[in-house]
Amino acid sequence: MNKKIVLFLFLLSLNINAQKFDGLAETPPMGWNSWNTFGTDINEKLVKDIADQFIELGLKDAGYEYIVLDDGWMSKERDVNGDLVADPIKFPSGMKVLADYIHSKGLKFGLYNCAGSKTCAGYPGSRGHEYQDAKLYASWEVDYLKYDWCNTGKINAESAYITMRDALKAAGRPVVFSICEWGDNEPWKWGKEVGHLWRATGDIINCWDCEIGHGSWSSSGVWTIINMRKDIRESAGPGHWNDFDMMEVGNGMTAAEDRSHFVMWSMLASPLIMGNDLREMSKETLSTLINKEVISVNQDKLGIQGFRFSNENKMEIWIKPLDNNQWALSFVNMSDDAVDFVFDWQKHPLSDDVNGRYLDLNKEVYEVRDLTHHQNLGDTSKKLKAKIASHDVVVVRIGK
Ligand code: GAL
Repeated sequence: MNKKIVLFLFLLSLNINAQKFDGLAETPPMGWNSWNTFGTDINEKLVKDIADQFIELGLKDAGYEYIVLDDGWMSKERDVNGDLVADPIKFPSGMKVLADYIHSKGLKFGLYNCAGSKTCAGYPGSRGHEYQDAKLYASWEVDYLKYDWCNTGKINAESAYITMRDALKAAGRPVVFSICEWGDNEPWKWGKEVGHLWRATGDIINCWDCEIGHGSWSSSGVWTIINMRKDIRESAGPGHWNDFDMMEVGNGMTAAEDRSHFVMWSMLASPLIMGNDLREMSKETLSTLINKEVISVNQDKLGIQGFRFSNENKMEIWIKPLDNNQWALSFVNMSDDAVDFVFDWQKHPLSDDVNGRYLDLNKEVYEVRDLTHHQNLGDTSKKLKAKIASHDVVVVRIGK
């Protein structure tokens, strides 16, 4: 057969069989992304320092793995071959050297680009260069791609993301594919076959419950995001997650609000991507971010996204079924005052109809572990009692 026909059939077969990489992000990805704190003001030294902090502060040990450079890592123009180029001033040693450094620490390396002609900050987008860019990322040993949605005109979102998924697959290096089209085209309906996580909303901002307009778009605080997308839990699971955006822990909210934010992202099985300056965080911020007992709720292998149980009397109660017939429950005090909170287990049967999980604590007695304060609280035969400060949280794991 003519060589050209063989090549054509080979490429066709690649596309027919194209799928996302399986076996990645079986639990929500954990890592750090540069955008929330640094915007496009990123450079090689910063990123290496961040990688060092992963080790020194115990973040790697707590499960954080990906270091992702967001918008602003590239030169404004492609080179003569049409390849993307790392900004030579910000990244003088180039991306492969940086990837090697990150890999040498046992961590993984992620980059950002965009499905449109330009990224949101005006750097070259991947439109029309998808296969070329995917090959370049593979040659740099990139492990994670965040793929944005600016300057896309009228193109169809699902097709555009499928094109990049297929390009990554054809390049051959397993890459976690992070869809970032802000929930505009309901990626929770089609994202499972295309990527490993998808942003459910526009950008997060460091406030408890607010929306801040920027002309044609707006950014949302922690509870604004939660309330906007509390009803899409059925689409989350191992290998495919609703992404509630990079975290704002350590970026200016109170310590109590940061704790609640972190617990809620864990209850929601959202990716845990830090967005603060790891070189300058307080002890309190660090202890929130490396709370392994809370992280274990996020990383539970069933991958069930938690949901609102009730929100009466300014108390947000969320529940999340866990492996081994265990459950996590979080109690966030939304009021401006501290409360003496009491929860009678026997009056609150737990049920998750979507996953067929039920627990009646009149019939069974479970042990109660406080994951925020790392202590055992007895069992469910007695009421849970806790003083919870304004905007603070108590989260417990119950099990036999
Ligand atoms: C937005 C995206 C942000 C960040 C930014 C970079 O569209 O939602 O997370 O990536 O672009 O320009």
